[in-house]
Amino acid sequence: MPLPAPAVDAVIKPLPRALSLAGAAAAAAATSLLLISAVVSRARDDYASPPPSTSASTTAALPPAPEPSPQHHEHPHPPPPPVPPCPPNASHHTPCHEPPSGERHCPPHPPPPHPPHPPEDPPPHPPPPPPHCRVPPPPGYHPPPPWPARRERARYANVDLPALTVAKLAASQDPVHARGEWLVFPKGAGNYVEQLERVVPLRGGAVRTALDIGCGVASFGDYLLSYGVLTMSIAPRERHGADVQFALERGLPAMIGALGARRLPYPSRSFDMVHCADCHVSWTAHDGLYMLEIDRLLRPGGYWVMSSPPISWKSPYKGPNKTIENLDGEQLAMEDTANKLCWEKVSDKGTLSVWRKPINHLHCAQEAEFLRSPPLCTEDDPDTAWYVNISMCRTHLPRVELDGGPLEKWPQRLATVPPRIANGEIKGMSIQAYKHDCSVWRRRVELYGTYLKDLSHRSYRNVMDMNAGFGSFAAAMLKYPVWVMNVVPANITDNNTLGIIYERGLIGTYMDWCEAFSTYPRTYDLIHANGVFSLYINKCGTLDILVEMDRILRPGGATIIRDAADVVLKVKEAADRLQWRSRVVNTDDEGPDPQKLLIVDNSLQLPGS
Ligand SMILES: *[C@@H]1O[C@H](CO)[C@@H](O)[C@H](O)[C@H]1NC(C)=O
Ligand SMILES: *[C@@H]1O[C@H](CO)[C@@H](O)[C@H](O)[C@H]1NC(C)=O
Ligand SMILES: *[C@@H]1O[C@H](CO)[C@@H](O)[C@H](O)[C@H]1NC(C)=O
Ligand SMILES: *[C@@H]1O[C@H](CO)[C@@H](O)[C@H](O)[C@H]1NC(C)=O
Ligand SMILES: *[C@@H]1O[C@H](CO)[C@@H](O)[C@H](O)[C@H]1NC(C)=O
Repeated sequence: MPLPAPAVDAVIKPLPRALSLAGAAAAAAATSLLLISAVVSRARDDYASPPPSTSASTTAALPPAPEPSPQHHEHPHPPPPPVPPCPPNASHHTPCHEPPSGERHCPPHPPPPHPPHPPEDPPPHPPPPPPHCRVPPPPGYHPPPPWPARRERARYANVDLPALTVAKLAASQDPVHARGEWLVFPKGAGNYVEQLERVVPLRGGAVRTALDIGCGVASFGDYLLSYGVLTMSIAPRERHGADVQFALERGLPAMIGALGARRLPYPSRSFDMVHCADCHVSWTAHDGLYMLEIDRLLRPGGYWVMSSPPISWKSPYKGPNKTIENLDGEQLAMEDTANKLCWEKVSDKGTLSVWRKPINHLHCAQEAEFLRSPPLCTEDDPDTAWYVNISMCRTHLPRVELDGGPLEKWPQRLATVPPRIANGEIKGMSIQAYKHDCSVWRRRVELYGTYLKDLSHRSYRNVMDMNAGFGSFAAAMLKYPVWVMNVVPANITDNNTLGIIYERGLIGTYMDWCEAFSTYPRTYDLIHANGVFSLYINKCGTLDILVEMDRILRPGGATIIRDAADVVLKVKEAADRLQWRSRVVNTDDEGPDPQKLLIVDNSLQLPGS
């Protein structure tokens, strides 16, 4: 049921650019240097207003960082001004997902900073540089507790929840309930998952990657963790009820996402299981288009689980409007589509239905003709999924023997050569290169551990790798109690490695770093950016990317930037404008142009503060 909107929850209007806020532009223009100097001298007040946040580890509340470098003394110009804070009403800003639009919608790209062919007659007044601002934490924000404590409770103050819902939750008898300033998540999905386990082999490593569509507060994904199953939980950004924000606060993998005309941003054959419990998707609409997308995402032999759980263990504040009868009606129509896709019905008990995708299409060719199934796709690459429409065709299933063999079970799957490499499908990616990559990243992560002590203190849980390659950083990070969102930049290099990452039993998404990531502010504890800035050097500005990183990094979080030495020095300058606590260090790489690291640890107090 739609809730009346309290005034505090005003919706932020669509903005002209992904990484900037119109309000801040106006504010910055109006108050110019006055505001900026105020920010420098009184950062604590500006960031924490209205009620001042007193958390020691809230970066935003600490005085600015810049340690004056020797250069600054000799430089005739003052250092570039710090980036001002955004207005307080932007504290839950999700630039590409403003409701009610379900699908991702980003404003057009800004032009690259140095166009290769400048126009012959430049306009007399060049447009002003894009305004940037730092998303402020909401009043009363505190970083989440370390893992695993955060799994069971999340602070109301940290998420975008209208006051009305908080009151309702406090009175609720549902399994998810309120306790003081916390929302508490007991093991609500237990019975449900045990029921599912009788049908789907959740133990033993055959199922490793799962997708939960319309995930609620990700209790399903939470419970599956104890089976060694890694779940990507997705839900749209709703006006009130920040499911994905809660999930990430709890330290569970999640991102904003919803089925629409476009493919979900994952390659084909990514998930061993896809799950929908009361997920508000009209599966039978558009001739079963959304089920075709599920078919693309499931690996051969993967499970499609559709249910309406008997108790509302997900998000009680959402109030699904579907009756059991409605669901049964839809299930009948789904049955027909599932047959057309040659899915096999594995179980149909109570409100839980499970189908299995075939290993190959050989056995159902005749059947498909008889049932007038959608044709097999012929042209497009089933792995491209960044702003690509779902096609009205069935994704071709590779023959296992030509596809580098079947997947190993987890955890062997992590280290063995992924089928997409073994079969030589991707040009220039050899078995040798893959193995080398694995050992290089083990060594590098070892080095990172010496710089970021919090890694072993469980303060980090949600980790993002902005340019994940083969996913070897994430693989090496498994020794810590973290999960890694492996991001593969889309449409920028020819090598698409995200399919490989999923084959290793890791998860991730496509992304264009000139846009905003599909997440809420303050949702990652640690961000790793390997070669990102040199990759995007001609596509968008360093500060554009850093401001987006600042949005998604929780206060007190850390960042590791690895890049060519000159790029790192440039990034360092921009990082100072964000008042990040950073220092440039050497890598232990060999060769003529060793890379450098910018280690950002915002939990560090400045000397004397
Ligand atoms: C709930 O479903 C009923 C019947 O399907 C419909 O009449 C009603 O408008 C729905 N309510 C909401 C809030 O969507
Ligand atoms: C956010 O606040 C600014 C002023 O600080 C105001 O101009 C803007 O309209 C507000 N936005 C919304 C969506 O309320
Ligand atoms: C993708 O789908 C949308 C909505 O159906 C449509 O407007 C658009 O033209 C399609 N794009 C392509 C490239 O087919
Ligand atoms: C990305 O690349 C694919 C394949 O090269 C292309 O079809 C698609 O239109 C591109 N998308 C964007 C947003 O540029
Ligand atoms: C990806 O492609 C780039 C150039 O397009 C190449 O330099 C790089 O080595 C490739 N990465 C891998 C992992 O093969």
